Amino acid sequence: MAFSNERKISLNLEKISRFLNGFLVILMVFFGLAGFLWNTGWYWLAGSVLILNILNGYYLYIQKQHALLANFGVLALFRYLVESIGPEFRQYLYSSDTEEKPFNRMERADVYKQAKNSEKSSAFGSLLEFDNKALKLKHSFYPIDPKKLHPFHLCFGEERQLKQSYTINKAIMIGGMSYGALGRKAIRALSAGAKKAGIPLNTGEGGYPKYHLMDGADLIFQMGTAKFGVRNEDGSFNPDLLEKISRLEQVKMIEIKFSQGAKPGKGGLLPKEKITQEIAELRAIPMGKDVISPAGHTECYSAESTVQFLRKIQEVSLLPTGIKFCLGSTKELGQMFLEMKKQNIYPDYVAIDGSEGGTGAAPKTFMDDLGYPLFPALEKITSLMEEHKIRDKFKLVTSGKLISAGKQMMALCMGASAIYTARGFMLALGCIQALRCNNNTCPVGITTHSEKLQYGLDIEEKSERVKNYALNLDYHHYEMLAAMGEVKFLDLSRDNLIFPSSH
Ligand SMILES: Cc1cc2nc3c(=O)[nH]c(=O)nc-3n(C[C@H](O)[C@H](O)[C@H](O)COP(=O)(O)O)c2cc1C
Repeated sequence: MAFSNERKISLNLEKISRFLNGFLVILMVFFGLAGFLWNTGWYWLAGSVLILNILNGYYLYIQKQHALLANFGVLALFRYLVESIGPEFRQYLYSSDTEEKPFNRMERADVYKQAKNSEKSSAFGSLLEFDNKALKLKHSFYPIDPKKLHPFHLCFGEERQLKQSYTINKAIMIGGMSYGALGRKAIRALSAGAKKAGIPLNTGEGGYPKYHLMDGADLIFQMGTAKFGVRNEDGSFNPDLLEKISRLEQVKMIEIKFSQGAKPGKGGLLPKEKITQEIAELRAIPMGKDVISPAGHTECYSAESTVQFLRKIQEVSLLPTGIKFCLGSTKELGQMFLEMKKQNIYPDYVAIDGSEGGTGAAPKTFMDDLGYPLFPALEKITSLMEEHKIRDKFKLVTSGKLISAGKQMMALCMGASAIYTARGFMLALGCIQALRCNNNTCPVGITTHSEKLQYGLDIEEKSERVKNYALNLDYHHYEMLAAMGEVKFLDLSRDNLIFPSSH
């Protein structure tokens, strides 16, 4: 049946296209004659249709790249037009509130509401499926009086008794997004919002954090595999540059990024055309040459060398130093833990990014098919830490679509001590999930450097939204903690979860 429908549609298209091709020629002749006989104004129309005919001829008889254009001529352009505006049509007209990906409309609307401080309750009932065997939180018969709850407190670097340890008082931090992936105004709105909310902001791997520094937020400086901002011209690590950045008052922690969920094990190339004077300065790279981001840190080719590199960064920075990665081989992670024990060197935190994580740009197959998703990754890493008896050696931070307070609480129950969210804060900035982060055309001015597109992004207004979102998440964390009958965030454990198999 489906086959005969397809066939009917293609036969019709063929007829329509043949008709259109003939019609365009007749129309051109008609307009030409009209111009000759009645009024020269008709020549304009004849000229326009002539252009269409030339285009049609080119599509039908000359170009070879597009079969559809070769078969149907200009008629096929309608298909391209409809295909290009299809996502918008589906998003606004046809998709239900719980359908879109990676975040459905309901999830996005929830962030928007929190960012705008509007509407604190919903009516009638949840829109989620309750037979889907999702993870849930357990509440208690005996909710805690909010006044008795212990404030959230997490000190990075306390295990090493660092002089410059860093304490956060809310469970959320803004995940790494570089200047490069994000435009100047988005970075400034995030940084100003982070400052107002009293939460730190990860710089991403874009090099010297010029714009992140402008509005006073506490920063976690990230060093990626290309070591932007802390490299020599040949891409090797430059300790003097890291030392300089580490001494900046606002820089509170250093993060060595090994991989991220959306593209684990993938390097990249920054084409020379994209290297402006400013980018060259911030990233410490030369102009006029392509720059390669290796898939991994060149200094790290084994567990031993990786732990040695970590020690070096800790010694240079004197700051709490974490490592970020998406979990792949658990065997390698076990070897790494053994090596940490052997050298007695531990990171101050490990940031686990689930494979569902976001990115400015990555190959689709890396986004879809590599790495552990967040919750299984948390399960694996916490049990490996317990197996190696190193549970108390470092903190666990985590990220991967954790944009609601409920999901964040679940991650805390699974063993995380704090949460990063990147896209949650993008949504707070007004991201409409146009999925154009990789081509400089973000319609709301977030992942673009176009001054025109950034025009609508008001730093002051959006920083308020960032602040509101963070404070509302924090408020909901406490509310849920009380409902779950726990006094301290640190007391949360897997016992507070209802696992799918126990439904
Ligand atoms: C636009 C964009 C840029 C990103 N840039 C970086 C980066 O520079 N370094 C990094 O480690 N992760 C980067 N990420 C990944 C996020 O930090 C985060 O790990 C991931 O998106 C998962 O968190 P989320 O689901 O809350 O967004 C980026 C993500 C996005 C959406």
